[in-house]
Amino acid sequence: MTTLDDDQEQLRSNLELIGRENINDLEAVLSLVGHYEVEGFHRVPDNCPAEFTWDYEKGAKPQLDKLYEKAKKAQWNAQTDLDWSIEVDQEKVVMANAEANPGQMQWDPAALVGTALETWDDKRFLQFGIENQNWLLSQFMHGEQGALLCTAKIVETVPWIDAKYYAATQVMDEARHVEVFSKYLDEKLSGHYPMNAHLGLLLDDIVADSRWDMTYLGMQIMVEGLALAAFGFIHMMTTEPLLKKLLRYVMADEARHVAFGVLSLQEYYKELTAAELRERQEFAFEAAIRMKDRMAMQEVWERMEVPTSDVVKIMSMAPERDDFQILLFSKIVPNLRKLGLLDAADGWLRTKFTEMGAIAFEHLTDSTEDEDAFADGSPADRQVA
Ligand SMILES: [Fe+2]
Ligand SMILES: [Fe+2]
Repeated sequence: MTTLDDDQEQLRSNLELIGRENINDLEAVLSLVGHYEVEGFHRVPDNCPAEFTWDYEKGAKPQLDKLYEKAKKAQWNAQTDLDWSIEVDQEKVVMANAEANPGQMQWDPAALVGTALETWDDKRFLQFGIENQNWLLSQFMHGEQGALLCTAKIVETVPWIDAKYYAATQVMDEARHVEVFSKYLDEKLSGHYPMNAHLGLLLDDIVADSRWDMTYLGMQIMVEGLALAAFGFIHMMTTEPLLKKLLRYVMADEARHVAFGVLSLQEYYKELTAAELRERQEFAFEAAIRMKDRMAMQEVWERMEVPTSDVVKIMSMAPERDDFQILLFSKIVPNLRKLGLLDAADGWLRTKFTEMGAIAFEHLTDSTEDEDAFADGSPADRQVA
């Protein structure tokens, strides 16, 4: 295990890392709400130098080369491989999903007493369910655009030719993912949401960092690791056949993307000092908290005009929501372990994930052994279900 010398040790507080001392401070989490910029776009300075390599030897990194060859054959067409003629009645989907997943999507009536939700009728609850769908799919779409930008950046910044080749296939994958979620939102759902404020902070940090491996760590390991678990969960829960299939196709690509992150970083991280690894640990921790904060769905509560104090009351009386949120780290923690980041630098990150209640996932299979990542052929050819 690498250790930090005393003079290198600089324990940064939660306040410095995530802007608040208590990670479960709901009031602080809910105080940040995403809004569209009036300009209609969001610009972040990209501080990473682009790097040419003169070493063109294909296959110098055999596992990345293998992944690249698989990725070329795994492409699918968002317009023609999915049945867009399927009609989606959003109200019926909300009701069918609630029926198929009893307990998952309902609030404890006791938690609603004295809040705005106490006076809601069935129609208002139904609207809340519809807004949840619009919000969730919007976040998927914005996150995919983040991935599109980040992987284009990896093509520029990663020093190895095999990784540049592979990342180029991922740029295509991510374009398809943005396309597919955007089409679903426009044609099947009933409204868009801006990017969640916490997700936005994280993506800004990832893009702005000047070290090439931080793009990988932030996007491939953390954001995509969480997305893979979230897609899997919604894929399992939803009763809507078009979304189910769409998510399954996207998941087949994402498995490759996360494997690409682990395969690329595991070698590089062996060369870093304990102090450098500590910086990566802090970055991973910050990313984990930002993604957990996003799940509070701040923008939906705002649109439904529920006061923050009511949301705090409702959420703090729903501890099972925390358990569910922790499940979404089931892909991330084994990968951080594989990268050596849990135990590097005095095991700081292990302590943090233990505090979060997510350390139990560490021995699950990591993404380099995900069958989907190295599968032959496109999901349409393979008829995945
Ligand atoms: Fe994606
Ligand atoms: Fe991805």
